[in-house]
Amino acid sequence: MCGIVGHLGPKNSVDVVLEGLKRLEYRGYDSAGVSFISSSNDLMMYKKKGKIENLINEIKDKDISARSCIGHTRWATHGGVTDNNAHPHICEEMGIAMVHNGIIENAGELREFLTKEGIQFKSETDSETFLGLLIYHVRNGKNIKDAVIESFKKIHGFSAFVVLNKETSEIFSIKKGAPLVCGMNEVNSEVLVSSDPYALAGIADKIYFPEDEVLCHLSAANSNLLNFYELDGTKSKRYMSKKQSMTHDPAAKGDFEHYMLKEIYEQPELIRSLTQFYFQGEGKESLEAAVDLPRKNLHISACGTAYYAGLVIKDFFEQINRIPCRPEIASEFRYRNPILDKEDLALFISQSGETADTLAAQELCKKSGLKSLSIVNTEGSTLYRDCDVNLLIRAGVEIGVASTKAFTQQVLTGRTLSAVIQNKGMDDNLRNTLSQKYTLLAERIEELLDRSDEIKAVAGEIYRNKGFFYTGRGVYYPIALEGALKLKEIAYVHAEGYAAGELKHGPIALIDEEKVNVALVGPELYEKTVSNIQEIKARKGKIVTIGPEGKKDLEEISDYYIPINFDGLEELSPLYINVVNQLLAYHIAKFLGTDIDKPRNLAKSVTVE
Ligand code: F6R
Repeated sequence: MCGIVGHLGPKNSVDVVLEGLKRLEYRGYDSAGVSFISSSNDLMMYKKKGKIENLINEIKDKDISARSCIGHTRWATHGGVTDNNAHPHICEEMGIAMVHNGIIENAGELREFLTKEGIQFKSETDSETFLGLLIYHVRNGKNIKDAVIESFKKIHGFSAFVVLNKETSEIFSIKKGAPLVCGMNEVNSEVLVSSDPYALAGIADKIYFPEDEVLCHLSAANSNLLNFYELDGTKSKRYMSKKQSMTHDPAAKGDFEHYMLKEIYEQPELIRSLTQFYFQGEGKESLEAAVDLPRKNLHISACGTAYYAGLVIKDFFEQINRIPCRPEIASEFRYRNPILDKEDLALFISQSGETADTLAAQELCKKSGLKSLSIVNTEGSTLYRDCDVNLLIRAGVEIGVASTKAFTQQVLTGRTLSAVIQNKGMDDNLRNTLSQKYTLLAERIEELLDRSDEIKAVAGEIYRNKGFFYTGRGVYYPIALEGALKLKEIAYVHAEGYAAGELKHGPIALIDEEKVNVALVGPELYEKTVSNIQEIKARKGKIVTIGPEGKKDLEEISDYYIPINFDGLEELSPLYINVVNQLLAYHIAKFLGTDIDKPRNLAKSVTVE
């Protein structure tokens, strides 16, 4: 959830780290801090609650130059949002600074032990207990490398730590179940570490993904910038390395006011490039490998928007392939002792590939002997590395906290797999059929994007309303869930997604003139869905209908009717109806003046349970 960046090299490390933190601000953003070794060889620290801008304002007039720096953006778990609880945590006397992402589950116990040992705490965080352990071990004669290892061994739970040592300017990092990536630019003699490869884009030309419990050592020795060690101190080969392919364009938002809007508008182009990837490009191999996996039953685990994508994918696999599917929220699945058969397939869907609950669900399936498949955006992420086969969704970096383009790409990747399984492989015929469908889908979405002002006008009429029910039937039901999620997370408005037929079993009691029903109507079960709308209308609810064009009855029944062309593409229509929901949520949030790209209380990548 928190963002971590560390840099060591001839450039001013503080600038590099601050730039990296700005890129990661979308991950967690209630406070930020840096610690570095100044030109006069002092261990310095600045940390401030609030956005990174606050930290930058605090230090911008100071003449700072450093060869080694670590930084952090915090998403509070233990301890309130205060300057003191922000990271780094430092021990000036020993010249050690550290930052942490994750949760130290035995923090209470450790704090008690360390307090008895005379170590004083300055914050309320669980993270500071790691600093306490470092102090304890250094005091007892360990060098910093061994102190990091020994302290790490005492920690329960999933975490990543980065430690800066003043004496040698070295940086150490280590993780278990939390994201961590190292980077290097040999020509510039630079080494970096981060919780997200995005922070390293354009700086490192090679990136390294260490496995759990591998100590990464970033040093200033030109010939030996980056080393990996096992916990017994021997050299480790447990990391994956690759060329950095991600580029960073600082003007990435272009003319768009928000990343979210930009990402909504990227969807048609991404659909086209996904088609290219799987039908003509490198994606073919992984698709073939996925077809070969066992799949007596399909267990689908994911969280949030990715889970809703899973619900749509379930429909494809059950309706087209007749494969029984069990979609489940990963945080439930992992503790439910699910019935798993070795002939089953476990499918995990994730944008980040770092969601703690999804990773735990994957581990459970792996232990139970199931093959695992991911539909994932981030190549090299933990999920990507842990699954047997990965289908990349190729959405590019998604910065807006509210997931938009990833959902579309996830669903389409699932649809592609389902089609290839049904066809028993990819051939020209299938390639052509799917290409045509996906091209049409991209065009339909473009048409909808051109109607953004019309959707904005509807948003302008309903944004003051007190509560929204998104309803849909069949495959539109997950789209209703996703539509409601988008609205609540970016507009802070209470919204619920419901199967249209279910409203009368309770929630209809809430309907009055203050409530809005966003009714998603497809060609299937048309009349029944219209009857459901009637029931809301009769109770004075305001009706926004997104449904087939040219329908008199819909026009009459609705306060606002957004007509949609379903012709020739009914099966993929959930994806373009979802785009209307994305725009509707965006415009409502805009009218309400919320922080659309970084909504309160949220983080992009949920790496804690
Ligand atoms: C909502 C949203 C979240 C994520 C969820 C899973 O807009 O972004 O619900 O979908 O946290 O994240 P990933 O896909 O990274 O596993």
